[in-house]
Amino acid sequence: MKQKFKPKGSVIAALDVGTTKISCFIARLTDDEGHFDVVGVGHQASAGIKGGTVIDLEAAETAIRQTVHAAENMAAETMKGYPLREVVINVPGIHAHSHHFSADIDVLGQEVADQDIRRAMARAQEQNVSPDRELIHTIPVGYTIDGHHGIRDPRGLFGQSMQVDIHLVTGDSGALRNIATCIERSHLEIAAMCVSPYAAGLASLVEDEMDLGCTVIDMGGGVTSIAVFMGGNLIYTDAIPVGGQHVTSDIARGLTTSIAQAERLKTLYGSAIASTNDENELLDVPQIGEDDHAHPNHVPRSLLVGIIQPRVEEIFELVRARLQDSGLGPAIGRRVVLTGGASQLPGLRDLGQAVLDKQVRLGRPIRLGGLPEAVCGPAFATTAGLLTYVSERSDEMPRQVLAQSEPENLMQRIRLWLRENW
Ligand SMILES: Nc1ncnc2c1ncn2[C@@H]1O[C@H](COP(=O)(O)OP(=O)(O)OP(=O)(O)O)[C@@H](O)[C@H]1O
Ligand SMILES: [Mg+2]
Repeated sequence: MKQKFKPKGSVIAALDVGTTKISCFIARLTDDEGHFDVVGVGHQASAGIKGGTVIDLEAAETAIRQTVHAAENMAAETMKGYPLREVVINVPGIHAHSHHFSADIDVLGQEVADQDIRRAMARAQEQNVSPDRELIHTIPVGYTIDGHHGIRDPRGLFGQSMQVDIHLVTGDSGALRNIATCIERSHLEIAAMCVSPYAAGLASLVEDEMDLGCTVIDMGGGVTSIAVFMGGNLIYTDAIPVGGQHVTSDIARGLTTSIAQAERLKTLYGSAIASTNDENELLDVPQIGEDDHAHPNHVPRSLLVGIIQPRVEEIFELVRARLQDSGLGPAIGRRVVLTGGASQLPGLRDLGQAVLDKQVRLGRPIRLGGLPEAVCGPAFATTAGLLTYVSERSDEMPRQVLAQSEPENLMQRIRLWLRENW
Protein backbone atom coordinates (compact mmCIF):
# COMPACT_ATOMS: atom_id res chain seq x y z
CA MET A 1 0.00 0.00 0.00
CA LYS A 2 2.93 2.30 -0.57
CA GLN A 3 1.58 5.73 -1.40
CA LYS A 4 3.40 8.18 -3.60
CA PHE A 5 4.02 11.25 -1.52
CA LYS A 6 5.06 13.33 -4.50
CA PRO A 7 5.09 12.79 -8.27
CA LYS A 8 8.15 12.67 -10.53
CA GLY A 9 9.96 15.99 -10.88
CA SER A 10 8.88 17.26 -7.44
CA VAL A 11 11.37 18.68 -5.05
CA ILE A 12 11.72 17.20 -1.56
CA ALA A 13 13.91 18.63 1.15
CA ALA A 14 15.24 17.38 4.47
CA LEU A 15 16.20 19.57 7.39
CA ASP A 16 18.11 18.00 10.26
CA VAL A 17 18.31 20.37 13.21
CA GLY A 18 20.96 18.89 15.48
CA THR A 19 22.65 19.97 18.67
CA THR A 20 25.97 20.66 16.97
CA LYS A 21 25.13 21.06 13.30
CA ILE A 22 22.18 21.84 11.06
CA SER A 23 22.00 20.31 7.61
CA CYS A 24 19.66 20.55 4.67
CA PHE A 25 19.50 18.27 1.59
CA ILE A 26 17.33 19.17 -1.39
CA ALA A 27 16.42 16.41 -3.85
CA ARG A 28 14.42 16.00 -7.02
CA LEU A 29 12.33 12.88 -7.64
CA THR A 30 13.53 11.28 -10.86
CA ASP A 31 10.65 8.84 -11.34
CA ASP A 32 7.37 7.78 -9.80
CA GLU A 33 9.03 4.99 -7.85
CA GLY A 34 10.50 7.30 -5.22
CA HIS A 35 14.04 7.52 -6.63
CA PHE A 36 15.67 10.90 -6.34
CA ASP A 37 18.85 12.89 -6.98
CA VAL A 38 20.31 15.19 -4.36
CA VAL A 39 20.64 18.60 -6.03
CA GLY A 40 21.63 20.83 -3.12
CA VAL A 41 23.19 20.53 0.31
CA GLY A 42 23.87 23.01 3.06
CA HIS A 43 25.31 22.51 6.52
CA GLN A 44 26.75 24.61 9.28
CA ALA A 45 27.30 24.74 13.02
CA SER A 46 24.08 24.74 14.98
CA ALA A 47 22.98 27.53 17.31
CA GLY A 48 20.32 27.87 19.96
CA ILE A 49 19.89 24.11 20.42
CA LYS A 50 20.96 22.16 23.51
CA GLY A 51 20.55 18.42 23.77
CA GLY A 52 18.01 18.41 20.92
CA THR A 53 15.93 21.17 22.55
CA VAL A 54 15.51 24.73 21.28
CA ILE A 55 16.81 27.12 23.93
CA ASP A 56 17.17 30.26 21.80
CA LEU A 57 14.55 30.72 19.07
CA GLU A 58 16.28 33.55 17.28
CA ALA A 59 19.71 31.92 17.13
CA ALA A 60 18.21 28.64 15.93
CA GLU A 61 16.08 30.40 13.32
CA THR A 62 19.08 32.27 11.90
CA ALA A 63 21.16 29.11 11.66
CA ILE A 64 18.28 27.23 9.99
CA ARG A 65 17.72 30.01 7.49
CA GLN A 66 21.41 30.19 6.55
CA THR A 67 21.62 26.42 6.10
CA VAL A 68 18.53 26.31 3.91
CA HIS A 69 19.82 29.24 1.80
CA ALA A 70 23.10 27.44 1.18
CA ALA A 71 21.24 24.33 -0.02
CA GLU A 72 18.87 26.46 -2.15
CA ASN A 73 21.79 28.22 -3.79
CA MET A 74 23.39 24.93 -4.73
CA ALA A 75 20.07 23.68 -6.07
CA ALA A 76 19.34 26.94 -7.94
CA GLU A 77 19.12 25.29 -11.35
CA THR A 78 16.49 22.79 -10.20
CA MET A 79 14.59 25.32 -8.09
CA LYS A 80 14.45 27.82 -11.00
CA GLY A 81 14.53 30.74 -8.63
CA TYR A 82 11.67 29.52 -6.45
CA PRO A 83 12.34 29.36 -2.73
CA LEU A 84 12.00 26.09 -0.89
CA ARG A 85 8.52 25.73 0.60
CA GLU A 86 8.38 22.48 2.50
CA VAL A 87 10.79 20.40 4.50
CA VAL A 88 10.72 17.10 6.30
CA ILE A 89 12.32 17.57 9.68
CA ASN A 90 13.93 15.35 12.28
CA VAL A 91 12.44 14.86 15.72
CA PRO A 92 15.30 14.46 18.21
CA GLY A 93 15.04 11.00 19.76
CA ILE A 94 14.96 12.57 23.19
CA HIS A 95 11.50 14.03 22.51
CA ALA A 96 10.01 10.85 21.04
CA HIS A 97 8.25 7.97 22.70
CA SER A 98 7.21 4.51 21.47
CA HIS A 99 3.72 3.11 22.14
CA HIS A 100 2.38 -0.28 21.09
CA PHE A 101 -1.24 -0.78 20.24
CA SER A 102 -3.46 -3.51 18.76
CA ALA A 103 -6.53 -2.77 16.67
CA ASP A 104 -9.18 -5.40 15.88
CA ILE A 105 -10.82 -5.10 12.52
CA ASP A 106 -13.71 -7.15 11.12
CA VAL A 107 -13.01 -8.59 7.72
CA LEU A 108 -16.09 -10.87 7.64
CA GLY A 109 -14.92 -13.45 5.15
CA GLN A 110 -13.65 -10.84 2.72
CA GLU A 111 -10.20 -10.28 1.30
CA VAL A 112 -8.06 -7.97 3.44
CA ALA A 113 -7.55 -4.69 1.59
CA ASP A 114 -5.36 -1.62 2.09
CA GLN A 115 -8.40 0.16 3.44
CA ASP A 116 -8.68 -2.36 6.32
CA ILE A 117 -5.10 -1.70 7.36
CA ARG A 118 -5.66 2.04 7.16
CA ARG A 119 -8.77 1.71 9.28
CA ALA A 120 -6.73 -0.05 11.95
CA MET A 121 -4.07 2.64 11.75
CA ALA A 122 -6.67 5.40 11.99
CA ARG A 123 -8.22 3.70 15.00
CA ALA A 124 -4.85 3.46 16.75
CA GLN A 125 -4.34 7.15 16.08
CA GLU A 126 -7.76 8.11 17.42
CA GLN A 127 -7.14 6.28 20.66
CA ASN A 128 -3.86 8.01 21.25
CA VAL A 129 -4.86 11.61 21.01
CA SER A 130 -3.47 13.68 23.84
CA PRO A 131 -2.80 17.39 24.12
CA ASP A 132 0.80 17.01 25.27
CA ARG A 133 1.91 14.45 22.68
CA GLU A 134 1.90 14.76 18.92
CA LEU A 135 1.77 11.78 16.57
CA ILE A 136 4.88 11.28 14.46
CA HIS A 137 4.68 7.75 13.03
CA THR A 138 1.92 5.15 12.70
CA ILE A 139 3.57 1.89 11.70
CA PRO A 140 1.73 -1.42 11.27
CA VAL A 141 4.25 -4.02 12.45
CA GLY A 142 2.37 -7.32 12.51
CA TYR A 143 -0.95 -8.95 11.66
CA THR A 144 -2.99 -11.79 13.11
CA ILE A 145 -5.88 -13.20 11.05
CA ASP A 146 -8.34 -15.52 12.84
CA GLY A 147 -5.70 -16.35 15.44
CA HIS A 148 -2.84 -16.94 13.00
CA HIS A 149 0.10 -14.83 14.10
CA GLY A 150 3.17 -13.63 12.30
CA ILE A 151 1.56 -12.45 9.06
CA ARG A 152 3.72 -9.81 7.43
CA ASP A 153 1.46 -8.76 4.59
CA PRO A 154 -2.24 -9.60 5.02
CA ARG A 155 -3.48 -8.04 1.82
CA GLY A 156 -5.35 -10.54 -0.33
CA LEU A 157 -5.81 -13.04 2.52
CA PHE A 158 -9.32 -14.04 3.58
CA GLY A 159 -10.55 -14.13 7.16
CA GLN A 160 -13.19 -13.15 9.66
CA SER A 161 -11.24 -10.84 11.88
CA MET A 162 -7.81 -9.28 11.84
CA GLN A 163 -5.68 -7.87 14.61
CA VAL A 164 -3.15 -5.26 13.56
CA ASP A 165 -0.19 -4.53 15.85
CA ILE A 166 0.72 -0.91 15.52
CA HIS A 167 3.78 0.96 16.66
CA LEU A 168 2.96 4.59 17.32
CA VAL A 169 5.68 7.12 17.87
CA THR A 170 4.66 10.37 19.53
CA GLY A 171 6.63 13.51 20.29
CA ASP A 172 6.55 15.97 23.13
CA SER A 173 4.23 18.77 21.88
CA GLY A 174 6.05 21.60 23.62
CA ALA A 175 9.46 20.70 22.23
CA LEU A 176 8.01 20.12 18.76
CA ARG A 177 6.16 23.43 18.91
CA ASN A 178 9.44 25.26 19.51
CA ILE A 179 11.20 23.52 16.63
CA ALA A 180 8.18 24.23 14.40
CA THR A 181 8.26 27.92 15.36
CA CYS A 182 11.90 28.25 14.21
CA ILE A 183 11.05 26.59 10.92
CA GLU A 184 7.89 28.58 10.27
CA ARG A 185 9.72 31.80 11.04
CA SER A 186 12.15 30.79 8.31
CA HIS A 187 9.11 30.77 5.93
CA LEU A 188 9.09 27.00 5.60
CA GLU A 189 6.30 24.50 6.11
CA ILE A 190 6.78 21.17 7.81
CA ALA A 191 5.67 18.50 5.34
CA ALA A 192 6.49 15.62 7.68
CA MET A 193 8.50 14.67 10.73
CA CYS A 194 10.72 11.65 11.35
CA VAL A 195 12.51 10.55 14.51
CA SER A 196 16.29 11.04 14.09
CA PRO A 197 17.53 7.47 14.74
CA TYR A 198 14.79 6.05 12.47
CA ALA A 199 16.01 8.27 9.65
CA ALA A 200 19.62 7.30 10.43
CA GLY A 201 18.64 3.63 10.11
CA LEU A 202 16.73 4.18 6.85
CA ALA A 203 19.89 5.75 5.43
CA SER A 204 22.46 3.29 6.69
CA LEU A 205 20.97 -0.20 7.08
CA VAL A 206 20.89 -2.82 4.35
CA GLU A 207 17.53 -4.51 3.83
CA ASP A 208 18.54 -7.74 5.53
CA GLU A 209 19.42 -5.84 8.68
CA MET A 210 16.01 -4.13 8.74
CA ASP A 211 14.32 -7.49 8.15
CA LEU A 212 16.24 -9.75 10.51
CA GLY A 213 16.55 -7.29 13.40
CA CYS A 214 19.06 -4.54 14.00
CA THR A 215 19.54 -1.71 16.47
CA VAL A 216 20.76 1.65 15.21
CA ILE A 217 22.56 3.82 17.74
CA ASP A 218 22.82 7.39 16.49
CA MET A 219 25.52 9.12 18.54
CA GLY A 220 25.11 12.85 18.08
CA GLY A 221 26.50 15.84 19.90
CA GLY A 222 23.90 16.11 22.65
CA VAL A 223 21.78 12.99 22.26
CA THR A 224 22.41 9.31 21.70
CA SER A 225 19.27 7.78 20.23
CA ILE A 226 18.16 4.27 19.46
CA ALA A 227 16.01 2.74 16.71
CA VAL A 228 15.22 -0.96 16.65
CA PHE A 229 14.26 -2.45 13.28
CA MET A 230 12.58 -5.79 12.72
CA GLY A 231 10.61 -7.26 9.85
CA GLY A 232 11.50 -4.19 7.79
CA ASN A 233 9.84 -1.85 10.30
CA LEU A 234 10.76 0.44 13.13
CA ILE A 235 9.55 -1.36 16.25
CA TYR A 236 11.04 0.76 19.03
CA THR A 237 12.78 4.06 19.63
CA ASP A 238 14.39 5.63 22.67
CA ALA A 239 17.17 8.05 23.59
CA ILE A 240 19.52 9.23 26.31
CA PRO A 241 20.57 12.85 26.76
CA VAL A 242 24.30 12.19 26.47
CA GLY A 243 26.48 12.54 23.37
CA GLY A 244 29.80 13.65 21.95
CA GLN A 245 29.59 17.07 23.60
CA HIS A 246 29.72 15.42 27.00
CA VAL A 247 32.90 13.62 26.02
CA THR A 248 34.37 16.94 24.93
CA SER A 249 33.42 18.76 28.12
CA ASP A 250 34.89 15.93 30.22
CA ILE A 251 38.17 16.42 28.36
CA ALA A 252 38.07 20.21 28.81
CA ARG A 253 37.47 19.80 32.54
CA GLY A 254 39.92 16.95 33.03
CA LEU A 255 42.78 18.64 31.18
CA THR A 256 41.81 22.24 32.15
CA THR A 257 41.70 23.33 28.56
CA SER A 258 39.13 25.14 26.42
CA ILE A 259 36.16 23.38 24.76
CA ALA A 260 37.67 24.13 21.34
CA GLN A 261 41.00 22.56 22.32
CA ALA A 262 39.23 19.60 23.91
CA GLU A 263 37.27 19.04 20.68
CA ARG A 264 40.52 19.22 18.70
CA LEU A 265 42.28 16.74 20.98
CA LYS A 266 39.32 14.37 20.84
CA THR A 267 39.04 14.30 17.07
CA LEU A 268 42.80 14.18 16.43
CA TYR A 269 44.08 11.90 19.21
CA GLY A 270 41.02 10.52 20.97
CA SER A 271 40.18 6.86 21.29
CA ALA A 272 37.64 4.80 23.18
CA ILE A 273 40.17 2.07 23.84
CA ALA A 274 43.66 2.32 25.37
CA SER A 275 46.70 1.13 23.47
CA THR A 276 50.18 0.32 24.78
CA ASN A 277 51.81 3.35 23.18
CA ASP A 278 49.53 5.90 24.84
CA GLU A 279 51.92 6.35 27.80
CA ASN A 280 54.79 7.53 25.61
CA GLU A 281 52.88 9.76 23.25
CA LEU A 282 52.83 13.34 24.53
CA LEU A 283 50.13 15.80 23.50
CA ASP A 284 50.38 19.56 23.69
CA VAL A 285 47.46 20.83 25.78
CA PRO A 286 47.18 24.64 26.03
CA GLN A 287 45.81 25.60 29.44
CA ILE A 288 42.81 27.90 29.65
CA GLY A 289 43.77 31.56 29.61
CA GLU A 290 47.47 30.91 29.03
CA ASP A 291 49.54 31.80 26.03
CA ASP A 292 50.09 28.58 24.06
CA HIS A 293 53.80 28.95 23.71
CA ALA A 294 54.83 30.57 26.98
CA HIS A 295 54.04 27.52 29.11
CA PRO A 296 53.94 24.42 26.99
CA ASN A 297 51.96 21.74 28.74
CA HIS A 298 52.46 18.15 27.70
CA VAL A 299 50.26 15.30 28.80
CA PRO A 300 50.46 11.65 27.84
CA ARG A 301 47.80 10.43 25.43
CA SER A 302 46.82 7.83 28.04
CA LEU A 303 45.37 10.65 30.14
CA LEU A 304 43.12 11.73 27.25
CA VAL A 305 41.99 8.17 26.54
CA GLY A 306 41.42 7.65 30.26
CA ILE A 307 38.93 10.53 30.25
CA ILE A 308 37.14 9.48 27.07
CA GLN A 309 36.73 5.79 27.78
CA PRO A 310 34.57 5.88 30.92
CA ARG A 311 32.16 8.41 29.40
CA VAL A 312 31.71 6.40 26.22
CA GLU A 313 31.35 3.24 28.27
CA GLU A 314 28.64 4.97 30.27
CA ILE A 315 26.78 5.89 27.06
CA PHE A 316 26.79 2.26 25.93
CA GLU A 317 25.72 1.07 29.38
CA LEU A 318 22.78 3.50 29.37
CA VAL A 319 21.82 2.28 25.90
CA ARG A 320 22.06 -1.33 27.06
CA ALA A 321 19.78 -0.54 30.02
CA ARG A 322 17.23 1.13 27.73
CA LEU A 323 17.19 -1.88 25.43
CA GLN A 324 16.72 -4.19 28.41
CA ASP A 325 13.88 -2.05 29.76
CA SER A 326 12.18 -1.95 26.35
CA GLY A 327 10.75 -5.41 27.00
CA LEU A 328 11.62 -6.49 23.47
CA GLY A 329 13.84 -9.27 24.78
CA PRO A 330 15.70 -11.40 22.26
CA ALA A 331 13.59 -9.92 19.44
CA ILE A 332 16.15 -7.16 19.33
CA GLY A 333 18.70 -9.40 17.64
CA ARG A 334 22.44 -9.25 17.88
CA ARG A 335 23.28 -6.65 15.32
CA VAL A 336 24.09 -3.00 16.03
CA VAL A 337 24.95 -0.21 13.61
CA LEU A 338 26.55 2.98 14.94
CA THR A 339 25.92 6.31 13.18
CA GLY A 340 26.20 10.00 14.08
CA GLY A 341 29.24 12.25 14.27
CA ALA A 342 30.34 10.87 17.62
CA SER A 343 30.54 7.33 16.19
CA GLN A 344 33.78 8.34 14.48
CA LEU A 345 35.89 7.94 17.61
CA PRO A 346 38.52 5.23 17.01
CA GLY A 347 37.95 2.11 19.09
CA LEU A 348 34.24 2.80 19.52
CA ARG A 349 33.15 -0.28 17.63
CA ASP A 350 35.19 -2.59 19.86
CA LEU A 351 34.04 -0.92 23.04
CA GLY A 352 30.40 -1.06 21.89
CA GLN A 353 30.79 -4.73 21.05
CA ALA A 354 32.17 -5.45 24.53
CA VAL A 355 29.57 -3.49 26.51
CA LEU A 356 26.51 -4.39 24.44
CA ASP A 357 27.62 -7.97 23.72
CA LYS A 358 26.46 -7.58 20.14
CA GLN A 359 27.94 -7.55 16.69
CA VAL A 360 28.67 -3.90 15.93
CA ARG A 361 29.47 -2.18 12.65
CA LEU A 362 29.90 1.47 11.73
CA GLY A 363 27.23 2.94 9.48
CA ARG A 364 26.92 5.90 7.11
CA PRO A 365 24.45 6.89 4.39
CA ILE A 366 24.50 4.16 1.72
CA ARG A 367 21.28 4.74 -0.15
CA LEU A 368 21.97 8.13 -1.70
CA GLY A 369 24.28 8.13 -4.69
CA GLY A 370 26.25 11.24 -5.53
CA LEU A 371 26.34 12.85 -2.10
CA PRO A 372 29.14 15.42 -1.96
CA GLU A 373 32.19 14.15 -0.05
CA ALA A 374 31.68 16.58 2.83
CA VAL A 375 28.24 15.20 3.69
CA CYS A 376 28.57 11.47 3.09
CA GLY A 377 29.85 10.59 6.58
CA PRO A 378 27.97 9.13 9.56
CA ALA A 379 27.03 12.60 10.91
CA PHE A 380 24.72 12.99 7.88
CA ALA A 381 22.89 9.67 8.17
CA THR A 382 19.82 11.33 9.72
CA THR A 383 19.60 14.02 7.02
CA ALA A 384 19.94 11.47 4.22
CA GLY A 385 17.37 9.17 5.84
CA LEU A 386 14.78 11.95 6.06
CA LEU A 387 14.70 11.96 2.24
CA THR A 388 14.31 8.17 2.15
CA TYR A 389 11.50 8.46 4.68
CA VAL A 390 9.45 10.87 2.55
CA SER A 391 10.06 9.03 -0.66
CA GLU A 392 9.41 5.49 0.64
CA ARG A 393 7.43 5.57 3.86
CA SER A 394 4.87 8.34 3.51
CA ASP A 395 2.12 5.85 4.40
CA GLU A 396 3.40 5.95 8.00
CA MET A 397 2.75 9.67 8.31
CA PRO A 398 -0.24 10.21 10.61
CA ARG A 399 -1.67 12.91 8.38
CA GLN A 400 -1.55 10.62 5.33
CA VAL A 401 -3.23 7.86 7.34
CA LEU A 402 -6.11 10.17 8.15
CA ALA A 403 -6.39 11.49 4.63
CA GLN A 404 -6.47 8.02 3.12
CA SER A 405 -8.62 6.22 5.62
CA GLU A 406 -11.58 8.48 4.92
CA PRO A 407 -14.11 6.67 2.73
CA GLU A 408 -14.51 8.48 -0.57
CA ASN A 409 -18.27 8.61 -0.80
CA LEU A 410 -21.41 8.09 1.18
CA MET A 411 -22.10 4.57 -0.15
CA GLN A 412 -18.66 3.44 0.88
CA ARG A 413 -19.16 5.00 4.27
CA ILE A 414 -22.44 3.15 4.72
CA ARG A 415 -20.96 -0.16 3.55
CA LEU A 416 -18.10 0.30 5.98
CA TRP A 417 -20.48 1.13 8.80
CA LEU A 418 -22.62 -1.92 8.04
CA ARG A 419 -19.55 -4.15 7.87
CA GLU A 420 -18.29 -2.88 11.20
CA ASN A 421 -21.61 -2.92 13.06
CA TRP A 422 -23.52 -5.94 11.80
N1 LIG B 1 36.33 12.46 14.22
C1 LIG B 1 35.54 12.49 15.29
N2 LIG B 1 35.83 11.73 16.36
C2 LIG B 1 35.03 11.75 17.44
N3 LIG B 1 33.95 12.53 17.57
C3 LIG B 1 33.61 13.30 16.52
C4 LIG B 1 34.39 13.33 15.34
N4 LIG B 1 33.81 14.21 14.48
C5 LIG B 1 32.72 14.70 15.11
N5 LIG B 1 32.60 14.17 16.35
C6 LIG B 1 31.59 14.45 17.34
O1 LIG B 1 30.31 14.25 16.80
C7 LIG B 1 29.36 15.05 17.50
C8 LIG B 1 28.37 15.64 16.54
O2 LIG B 1 27.67 14.60 15.90
P1 LIG B 1 26.40 14.89 14.98
O3 LIG B 1 26.75 15.85 13.92
O4 LIG B 1 25.84 13.59 14.59
O5 LIG B 1 25.46 15.60 16.07
P2 LIG B 1 24.11 16.46 15.90
O6 LIG B 1 23.23 15.78 14.94
O7 LIG B 1 24.45 17.88 15.65
O8 LIG B 1 23.54 16.36 17.39
P3 LIG B 1 22.28 15.59 18.01
O9 LIG B 1 21.89 14.52 17.05
O10 LIG B 1 22.78 15.06 19.30
O11 LIG B 1 21.25 16.65 18.21
C9 LIG B 1 30.15 16.11 18.24
O12 LIG B 1 30.07 15.90 19.63
C10 LIG B 1 31.58 15.91 17.75
O13 LIG B 1 32.52 16.11 18.78
MG1 LIG C 1 21.77 14.25 14.98
